[in-house]
Amino acid sequence: MKNSILTTTTLFVILLFLHSALALKEGQICLADKNCDSGLHCETCVANGNLRPRCTRTQPINPTSKVKGLPFNRYSWLTTHNSFALLGQKSATGSVILAPTNQQDTITSQLNNGVRGLMLDLYDFENDVWLCHSFGGQCFNYTAFQPAINVLKEIQAFLEANPSEIVTIIIEDYVTSPKGLTKVFNAAGLRKYWFPVSRMPKNGGDWPTVDDMVQKNQRLVVFTSKAAKEASEGIAYEWRYLVENQYGNSNGGMKAGSCPNRAESPSMNTTSRSLVLVNYFRDLPDGTQSCKDNSAPLLNMVNTCYQAAGKRWANFIAVDFYKRSDGGGAPEAVDVANGHLVCGCGNIASCKANMTFGASCQLPVAELAPAREAALASSFSILNCKPASLLLSFAITLLAMLVAL
Ligand SMILES: *[C@@H]1O[C@H](CO)[C@@H](O)[C@H](O)[C@H]1NC(C)=O
Ligand SMILES: *[C@@H]1O[C@H](CO)[C@@H](O)[C@H](O)[C@H]1NC(C)=O
Ligand SMILES: *[C@@H]1O[C@H](CO)[C@@H](O)[C@H](O)[C@H]1NC(C)=O
Repeated sequence: MKNSILTTTTLFVILLFLHSALALKEGQICLADKNCDSGLHCETCVANGNLRPRCTRTQPINPTSKVKGLPFNRYSWLTTHNSFALLGQKSATGSVILAPTNQQDTITSQLNNGVRGLMLDLYDFENDVWLCHSFGGQCFNYTAFQPAINVLKEIQAFLEANPSEIVTIIIEDYVTSPKGLTKVFNAAGLRKYWFPVSRMPKNGGDWPTVDDMVQKNQRLVVFTSKAAKEASEGIAYEWRYLVENQYGNSNGGMKAGSCPNRAESPSMNTTSRSLVLVNYFRDLPDGTQSCKDNSAPLLNMVNTCYQAAGKRWANFIAVDFYKRSDGGGAPEAVDVANGHLVCGCGNIASCKANMTFGASCQLPVAELAPAREAALASSFSILNCKPASLLLSFAITLLAMLVAL
């Protein structure tokens, strides 16, 4: 009796060990983030009928880890819409926030997950520049998130700690105080990373290479929506350098198969603008629907916009709740764009290190995966579903009690 209990206990301990040691892959059923492989987290996507939590992607592949040295416009970057409007955040004024929220984690966490484009709404408020939403162009306590300098300092810390990374800030600019933006960027210590407007291609040419930008430490690209600030403050006027599609669901921005430009942008096929930005988010952020939006429909829109932009892949892919999807999500959409941009493959995962554009692509890892791994994964998949795990913990507790007796 005692022997069989011991054997059973040993078996359970081994199973438990395997359960925790086996990092789950994208799409596999999980219990918690820590069950999933790195770059993945554990979530459901109820909007897609995916009721069991699965490991889904939160990080794109860093494209420069495959091929370095290309012009900046030959890479695609994961971009968060209203990066600062965080779920559950309280206003720094002390007020409850009554404005919509678009993301789940801090700017630092976003950057660490590989987000490289940040969309920030900046306003004059409380004698300072704040991250805010507005009613009628005005910022209120209950729509004000926090002073911009806090978030700009997070970006500064990231650039400092990651000397080969490049970050782009896209400002929806409501600041009218004299040199308001210049002052807050300087105060945050970001001036030394500034990529000068004078080096941005004006007529559809290539940008400097990422290596050159890194070497010169010009690793912060900033765009404003206010044309006049290019001359007055040296901040690039967004639509002189990039084309951008319509956003929102009520005005055709999310209509499958069509990718019109937003009103402020030249048409998508305007090749005198070297960069292409694809927006894919609703008028009002919707945490429940976003996992569906960020899955197949986003990938379809990225393809549609490639055609609309004169066969140019998106350099920036901007979404709400960037971590949410039913599988690969926005990070995968960025990987697809990078595959085409960087090496001419369908996904950056298929680009070989240092490969020449258009040379033969590597088969995706999944297709090469030995049958053993797949078999192992499926044989343990029962352990990944909640009832089985609960049963397991219960059995182990019971056994522990028996053994203790
Ligand atoms: C590409 O080649 C260079 C040497 O030419 C090497 O230093 C670098 O690590 C390679 N890059 C990758 C991503 O393998
Ligand atoms: C807004 O917040 C500030 C603190 O930042 C406070 O002094 C002020 O009274 C608040 N205004 C209203 C209308 O609540
Ligand atoms: C560019 O796109 C516009 C629609 O935005 C279209 O009317 C025009 O014909 C396109 N031009 C070319 C050269 O394809």
